[in-house]
Amino acid sequence: MPQRVRGVIAPGKGAPVRIETIVVPDPGPGEAVVKVQACGVCHTDLHYREGGINDEFPFLLGHEAAGIVESVGDGVTEVAPGDFVILNWRAVCGQCRACRRGRPQYCFNTHNAEQKMTLEDGTELSAALGIGAFADKTLVAAGQCTKVDPAASPAAAGLLGCGVMAGLGAAVNTGAVSRGDTVAVIGCGGVGSAAVMGARLAGAARIIAVDIDDNKLATALRLGATHSVNSRAGDPVAAIQELTGGNGADVVIEAVGRPETYKQAFYARDLAGTVVLVGVPTPEMKLELPLLDVFGRGGALKSSWYGDCLPSRDFPMLIDLYLQGRLDLDAFVSETIPLDGVEEAFVRMHKGEVLRSVVVF
Ligand code: APR
Ligand code: ZN
Ligand code: ZN
Repeated sequence: MPQRVRGVIAPGKGAPVRIETIVVPDPGPGEAVVKVQACGVCHTDLHYREGGINDEFPFLLGHEAAGIVESVGDGVTEVAPGDFVILNWRAVCGQCRACRRGRPQYCFNTHNAEQKMTLEDGTELSAALGIGAFADKTLVAAGQCTKVDPAASPAAAGLLGCGVMAGLGAAVNTGAVSRGDTVAVIGCGGVGSAAVMGARLAGAARIIAVDIDDNKLATALRLGATHSVNSRAGDPVAAIQELTGGNGADVVIEAVGRPETYKQAFYARDLAGTVVLVGVPTPEMKLELPLLDVFGRGGALKSSWYGDCLPSRDFPMLIDLYLQGRLDLDAFVSETIPLDGVEEAFVRMHKGEVLRSVVVF
């Protein structure tokens, strides 16, 4: 029997979100219905609401979530009712050219549920990132459910489903930060702070946090940065060079998504160093760099999609580290809010007052 539950809907471009009754179908083959326990508020939800992703309104927002599998459809073997799962937006297909080459973390044909959730009048909903978890229950592809240790707090665990994984993976997976590296992170919001944590986890010797907001820098220092630079106070490139023996950092992670901060990252890295872009730019942004510098400085200029994560590999491992006290995911939960608090949380996120607001059910 299809179920009627509450969901947070973005009805049209720029319009405030509202709670509506949504209809969640029974899971079909390869699908699962998940009872959501917690879901973080991410910039991408706001981008959907603003029409910045596509025009397929109405959206069912929410995608950084953890919950309990309630029911599964035919042929589902990877999860069963009662499993505690983090939802992911990289359910790998196993058959695309990336998967076939053994690089499933780049899968170009990820799975979502085939059936649509709807409003009561039958209007089909577009689920944010194929998840739609600002809802009491949501329908996803079974591969979007990654089973983890149920001892973890749902509010903290859910954050691995998007922003924290993006930042942590930018350092650990994409940047391949290793023991003894010097690392700079430009932009220390939720994503950049997670990159700081990832760099610490990977054994970086020096981790330089850069931001324009002293509060963000204080948090980054708490999470493992060894130095902080307020780039309003002076040239951050010079400051990073000064903190790295005049050389620049081995890995610089850009977690803002702007041309000027990308340039800072480009010039703040050592020769043959790595730049990782995890901040998401907007379509009108352009980058201009002397091509000779691109060649002459060598190294690698990389982008990090979802932290180049493989959920089945990374989520259970990171939850284990969290439960051992080695990864402070709780530090990202600035506040817990009810389902009707999403619109206000967007305002606080926009003002930079929180790392993450998390809806708990
Ligand atoms: N230099 C340094 N830091 C900056 C600058 C700048 N010029 N401009 C903004 N910042 C800082 C902000 O002060 C803030 O701390 O960047 C941080 C951005 O953090 P959030 O707004 O919390 O965003 P976050 O969730 O961390 O996402 C960062 O990654 O996934 C993408 O879409 C996301 O592009 C966004 C980026
Ligand atoms: Zn694939
Ligand atoms: Zn997100």
